This record gives sequence, C-alpha cells and structure tokens, in this order.
Amino acid sequence: MLEAKYTSETPLSHRKDYGQFFTPAPVARLMAEWVLKDNPKTLLDPAFGLGVFYDEIKKIKPGNHILFTGYEIDKRILNYYGADNDHSDLTVINNDYLESDMGAYDGIICNPPYMRFQKFLNRHKVLSTIEEKTKKKLVGYSNISSVFLVKAMQELNHNGRMAFIMPFEFFNTGYGKEIKKNLLEERLLKQIIIFSNEKDIFPDATTTICILLCRKDHKEDSVKITSIENKSEIDNLHDINDFCQHVIKYSDLPYNKKWTPIISALYSSHKIPEDFCNISLYGAFKRGIATGANGFFALTKSRIKEFQLGENNICKCITKSQQIRKPVFTEDDFTELYNDDKPVYCLDVKDHNSPSVRNYIKTGEHSEMHKRYLTKTRNPWYKIEHRHPAPILFGVFNRGRLKVVRNYSEAINFTCFHSFYPNLFGAENINKLFAYFLSDRGQAIIKMNKRSYGNKLDKLEPGDLNDCLCPNQKQMKTLTEQEAANVIETAKSDEEAAIHKSNELVDKI
Ligand SMILES: C[S@@+](CC[C@H](N)C(=O)[O-])C[C@H]1O[C@@H](n2cnc3c(N)ncnc32)[C@H](O)[C@@H]1O
Repeated sequence: MLEAKYTSETPLSHRKDYGQFFTPAPVARLMAEWVLKDNPKTLLDPAFGLGVFYDEIKKIKPGNHILFTGYEIDKRILNYYGADNDHSDLTVINNDYLESDMGAYDGIICNPPYMRFQKFLNRHKVLSTIEEKTKKKLVGYSNISSVFLVKAMQELNHNGRMAFIMPFEFFNTGYGKEIKKNLLEERLLKQIIIFSNEKDIFPDATTTICILLCRKDHKEDSVKITSIENKSEIDNLHDINDFCQHVIKYSDLPYNKKWTPIISALYSSHKIPEDFCNISLYGAFKRGIATGANGFFALTKSRIKEFQLGENNICKCITKSQQIRKPVFTEDDFTELYNDDKPVYCLDVKDHNSPSVRNYIKTGEHSEMHKRYLTKTRNPWYKIEHRHPAPILFGVFNRGRLKVVRNYSEAINFTCFHSFYPNLFGAENINKLFAYFLSDRGQAIIKMNKRSYGNKLDKLEPGDLNDCLCPNQKQMKTLTEQEAANVIETAKSDEEAAIHKSNELVDKI
C-alpha cells in the first residue's frame, strides 16, 4: 500500500534517477528467511527504500531484537516510511551507502539501485573511496548494483548470510568476472534464483534479475540453481534452500565465462556447442527508429498524395510488426502494402523549405506532435535518425517462435523490429546467419537470452541479441552459400519447409 501511494505521488523520473524498483513482499520473505537462518544479531539493508525487508523480518521474528541498519540516499522516500514507524531496533541512515564506513554485519539483505554508473552523480569520488576501503580495483564497473555487492561482501561477518538481488547481466559482463571470482574463491555463493516468468513476479523491473544467496562459511563448492515459475510457487515455498532443480559444481561455473548460457542450458533440451561465438562477431543489432509520434511520421499512399509529399522527403519504412508476415520480405511485398494504403513510408525531411513539407509539419504542430516526450528533445523536432535498410530484422516482442525476417526491400524500420547491421564477416555470412536464426536450434539458443513478460510473451533487447551465441566462422564454412540460399527461396512460400531445411543445416554444424 505504501508502495502504491509512493509510486502514484512520485514522478517516474525521480524513481528512475534513484534506481527505485520495489521487491514484492513474497520475494522479500524468501530472502529474509535465508538471512535469518543462523539467528543474526545485526542486519544491514544498504538500499532501504520503503523498508520491505525490515517489514518481512519483523513478521518472521516479531519478538527478536535484531539490530537492523538501513541506508537510503533519498530523503523523499524515507519520509514515506518514517511517517508512522518508530522502531527501537531500526536505524535508517539518510546517506549514500557507498560513502559509508566499512561495517560488519551477521546478515545483509539488499535490492540495490540498478543504474549505469555514468548516471551516478558522485561516481568519481565514490569509486576511489570504495577501492580504498575494499582494496579492490573497480575498473569497468559500469553498474552501481555491482559496487553495492562488492562492498556488502566485505561487510559480511564470518558465517554471515547474504541475500542480494542482481541484474542477470552481471553474470556475463566484464566487470562481473572479478565478483564471480570472489564469490567462488571465498565459497560464498550457495544458490542462484532465476525467474522464468519475470514480469509476473517483478512487474516493474526494467532488466532481467536474479537473486544470489550467499553464506560466508568457506564450505562447499557447489551452487544450487532454482528457477521459479510464478507467484503461487513462491507462496507455497517454505524454505527456498530446499527447492532447486539443479546443483552445479563450482568447477563447472568458470568465473571468466558467461554464466547465462551455462545456467540456461540446464533448463533447455538444446546444448550449445562449446566453440559457438557471440552474434556481435558478425555485426550489431540496433533498435529500430523511435519517432515519438508514429501516427504523424508513418505515411500511407493516400496521405502522401493528399499532402503532395515528394520522394525527396519520405523514405520506405516498416512501421508495424504485422506488416511483415513471412520470413522473407521483398520489394514486391513492400509495393503490395503500399498499394493497399498501409503506412509504409516515413517522413524523412531533406528539403525543409518545400511548401508541402512545411504544410505537413504545420498539421503535426497543430496536433502538438512537437511537444511529445521524444520529439521535443530533437532539433528540429521532425528530423528522424538516418538509417540504412537492414538485411535481417528481428521481432521485439514474440509469442512462441521468434520473428526473424530476411529483408530484401529498401525499407528501414520503426521500433517494432530490431535491425541487424552486419560487419564484413556478417555480410559474407548473412544468409547463413538467417538460416541459423530460423532454425529450431538457433531459436532455442537465442531464447536463452530473452526476457519473459508472462503469458508466454517474450522480449529481446538489441543487447540480448548481440550477446546470443551462434556458429563461428569456421563452423559457418561447413555450410554452402547455395544451401542457405535454398532455405531463403523456400521461406518465400513455405515457412515450415524452410524451418525444416534450416534445421538440417544447423544440425550439420
Ligand atoms: C531497487 S530500490 C530497493 C528498495 C527496497 N529495498 C526494496 O527492495 O523494495 C533501491 C533503493 O536504494 C536507494 N539508493 C539509491 N542509491 C543509493 C545509495 N547510493 N545509497 C543508499 N541508497 C541508495 C534508492 O533510493 C532506492 O530506494
């Protein structure tokens, strides 16, 4: 209730600036049960927020006098918690946790702010202070959550327990390596919890997250892996530590390798060949063009005629996901859409003084298109980003199979698709890459990086796609260009048959 009140009364921009998203109470309870197992005398929450962890701890151990320390940098949020709470065992310090002196606690429970370090105002001062305090080099730590984790790990007493929410990406990034190394070397990491339907449980999370359960006992060398399906599964859980689908030896979790594929592979019937490489070796996926006012920028044939917009001031553009229904999109398909009066052009002003363009822009301004969130930041507001058509497009939201398109048209695209821009290696292998993306095996491997929005709706961000694994150049050479071209030719008329052919090719690898 407090959360609903706070969220409705606080601008999103403020919440974003402080990395505020809230742990649902049932998840906080699981985490609280873990840290309470050895009867701690002192507990720390470095990012207190609205105090969900403290509240859950009081529910589990109402009578116990555990000294609870919280840090919270934002006075505004603290005012909400503080209004009707007066607890003798609770101290909340209105300060930056990262600037605080090193402490020592029997238990640490935390959902740290998740934001790029570049956005963190005090970053230069804080990084060097923490490096000094923890005696660890923090070069390349691009996310503030990982700095919270590094400090907390050091503040945990011997035999102490820690429950920490982290963005899943930290398992795969460069800066994550050093932390993973520490978690393993000190035998801290006991359990990793992931959520297969994350949006069901964390509706507000902007990134895929996981929970780390740690204990500083220097014992054991294996990690339990738990995947939680939905809310009701959490409600029925009594001890999260008894619930896991897999146990992995530390030796099978090398700190210098990405952990996401290792963990995802446990839940998939598809095994990824060892020497697969990242898609980014072949190029980069980019988000499509964000106009900020698609209704204004997307143009149909009749609208183009009505406003007499010349070729020079428009460009071909896929503006909606439904406009492409087959895995191959050609110039003929484009023309068909255009003749059907679908919005497949985009305003792309080059001649700013043309009277017809001025007239169209005026209608936009009349409808206040220039005052929208995105348009008002551009100068002039109607100038969109310059893009080339991408040879492969990927659906952003997908249900079931991932939507992958080999684009032969000259159309660029809005944000309904991510665009793949190949480098030299990618350009040489573009048809083979498409065949891989279309195959069942390729799709299963790519889906390991998806974000689940519940109800079988999955989302892939460009970064998720760039990180996906695919055959390396040597493996691509086992396929001929003709074989890949056959898949594409078949896909023009029969998607099922094309998938079957692509499966055969990928199985060869
Ligand atoms: C992700 S929220 C978690 C809130 C709460 N613990 C929960 O789980 O619902 C992170 C909280 O940390 C606070 N915060 C951000 N930067 C901080 C800093 N440097 N030191 C202490 N608190 C910070 C934010 O204001 C926010 O309330």
